[in-house]
Amino acid sequence: MQRIDARYPVLKALLETQLAAAPAHEKFFRRRFETMDDAQAASLDEFAGHIARLVGDELEEHVEDYVWLCSQQVNEELHFRRHGRYRLNTFEEAYRDVYSNKEYMTRYMNGLLMTQLWWSNHTRAMEFYRTSFLASNTEGYSHLEIGPGHGLFLYFAAADPRAGKVSAWDISDASIAMTAKALRRLGLAEQPALELRDLFRGPVGSFDSLVFSEVLEHMEKPAETLALVRSLLAPEGRLFLNMPINSPAPDHLFNAETPEELERFVVDAGFRIIDRAFFPATNQTLDAARRKKLTISCVFVAGRAD
Ligand SMILES: C[S@@+](CC[C@H](N)C(=O)[O-])C[C@H]1O[C@@H](n2cnc3c(N)ncnc32)[C@H](O)[C@@H]1O
Repeated sequence: MQRIDARYPVLKALLETQLAAAPAHEKFFRRRFETMDDAQAASLDEFAGHIARLVGDELEEHVEDYVWLCSQQVNEELHFRRHGRYRLNTFEEAYRDVYSNKEYMTRYMNGLLMTQLWWSNHTRAMEFYRTSFLASNTEGYSHLEIGPGHGLFLYFAAADPRAGKVSAWDISDASIAMTAKALRRLGLAEQPALELRDLFRGPVGSFDSLVFSEVLEHMEKPAETLALVRSLLAPEGRLFLNMPINSPAPDHLFNAETPEELERFVVDAGFRIIDRAFFPATNQTLDAARRKKLTISCVFVAGRAD
């Protein structure tokens, strides 16, 4: 394994705490880091600094919630392998079991926050978002994130000195509370406007920069959802869409079997693709992930087709 030693102090501390809570994951982590060069480890250490600040004095809970999240995923994975589809069918079920359950949702978002560091597809999607999507926004851009959850994507927009008004909507009380706490802990001078809101309800708006990350796969009516998301984009606005395929989770409803199938779906919903990147599950090549039908995080930067 690339030695995660004193050269990468924050990453080292977080990894040691995580491994103490999950010794059985040692092989996974060894493989995760073994091919990493010094520059990548240094970049991950910088990123780990944000996570450490966000987590504050609740690192123990976060590493435990990560282990819990992994065990939830295993159950969903078994169902997916046996039946070839996700377990839940309706948004109502997901709302009942997950979004409205404060304790469950808090653990879920805590665990998901740690995956930004531990799962390479999540780390790479976040890096793409920071260096390619946000960095290409025009000065003073208006920004909306739907479903900020743990708050880390939103933080990088809100901390961008080139951003104008930054806002976010989420349907879950627990998510909104977590996002607010995350932004406070990360020490923003100005807090974004956070609203408890179902994206299908309430007034619309027009945004230059729109983030829909790991939300489309939660939708019962994904085509209608994308039409709505499209209506929220300013004429020259850009969407950052991030959706994992073949990625069973307790609240996932919509899947596409390949990145190309998902891209066609997005184009059919009235978008033109400006950029794309496909990141396979940790410790897998893209070819292997395609062959074995494993998770691939599909990232698209898209504008309105007309
Ligand atoms: C898996 S989290 C994504 C967190 C973060 N954006 C990321 O990419 O890691 C999905 C979030 O979408 C929110 N969500 C789901 N359905 C929604 C809806 N109809 N309107 C607004 N938010 C919704 C959930 O409450 C949750 O916070």
